[in-house]
Amino acid sequence: MRPRILVVYYSQTGQLRQILDSVVTDIKGKADIEYAVIEPVTPFPFPWTALQFVDAMPETVEHLPCAVKPLSSELLNKDYDLVIFGYQPWFLNPSQPTTGFLQGDLAKLFKGKPVVTVIGCRNMWLHAQEKVKEYLGGLGAHLVGNIVLTDTNPNLVSTLTVMRWSFKGQKGASGLLPAAGVQDEDIAAANRFGITIYQHFVDSNLIDLQRSLLAQGAIALKPGLVILEQRGIKNFRLWAKFIRRKGGPGDPARAGRALMFKNLLLVAIFILSPISNLTAFIKLVMKRHTLLRDVEYFRQLEYQEGRL
Ligand SMILES: Cc1cc2nc3c(=O)[nH]c(=O)nc-3n(C[C@H](O)[C@H](O)[C@H](O)COP(=O)(O)O)c2cc1C
Repeated sequence: MRPRILVVYYSQTGQLRQILDSVVTDIKGKADIEYAVIEPVTPFPFPWTALQFVDAMPETVEHLPCAVKPLSSELLNKDYDLVIFGYQPWFLNPSQPTTGFLQGDLAKLFKGKPVVTVIGCRNMWLHAQEKVKEYLGGLGAHLVGNIVLTDTNPNLVSTLTVMRWSFKGQKGASGLLPAAGVQDEDIAAANRFGITIYQHFVDSNLIDLQRSLLAQGAIALKPGLVILEQRGIKNFRLWAKFIRRKGGPGDPARAGRALMFKNLLLVAIFILSPISNLTAFIKLVMKRHTLLRDVEYFRQLEYQEGRL
């Protein structure tokens, strides 16, 4: 039987689309594949100004997303055997268009379907995936796999290149800095996952899919990330509330607080993060067993409320 696969995604720069194309490239001849693109009613700017960028944080973190356009009725009226759901984290949560889609009526097409999530991001995705697991559970979908592609450069390098990309629109290498985003060779090699998804589907063995994907390196996760995300999400929640008290998205009254958040973020990344790495390392040594248990949890698909 030819599986009917629906690939649902939002991508601002096209990176995630490239990743998804690679995932399905070797199964195009064996499966019917259709794409459903999530589009915000009002597109987000690209490149961003610094203020536009941080102004998107409060609503992203509080899950008050932008409106998204309806999907074509042709797509909605078809039945699919499997959904590949591509998304990217923004501020440690699903991007606003992703959340807009998951909260809307359109996501009802996920009901009862096996879903494989594909994440393309800088390197912080744990909390966003917890939220997506929660949404998928609420929609009655079955998460059967998760593939995560990140920028494998050191944290500070990927922060600098993602800033150059977001604020100047420049993805390619310049000066001492490499290209931004997920490495081209990792995108190209993502084709290995498509065959695995396909084979598990035709063998009616989706229950073991994640084990096979992990064996193929679908998720590389360092324990330190758990600590960084735990710290980050707490602060983002506080700042989201603080900024929103002054108004909604784009309200000039909240620009001062949004820019304060930006400055703090820069200090946290470039000055506090080396110190924070050290304390995270100490915590890592002291709580190694707990953190290794956490790492194992985040590599799997189960959802336990409050893990982050
Ligand atoms: C507003 C914003 C916030 C972001 N926050 C995160 C984040 O929390 N964690 C992360 O790993 N990447 C983050 N990124 C990078 C994105 O996840 C993604 O890799 C990049 O935007 C390219 O995705 P695209 O396919 O939508 O073009 C952020 C990007 C934007 C624009």
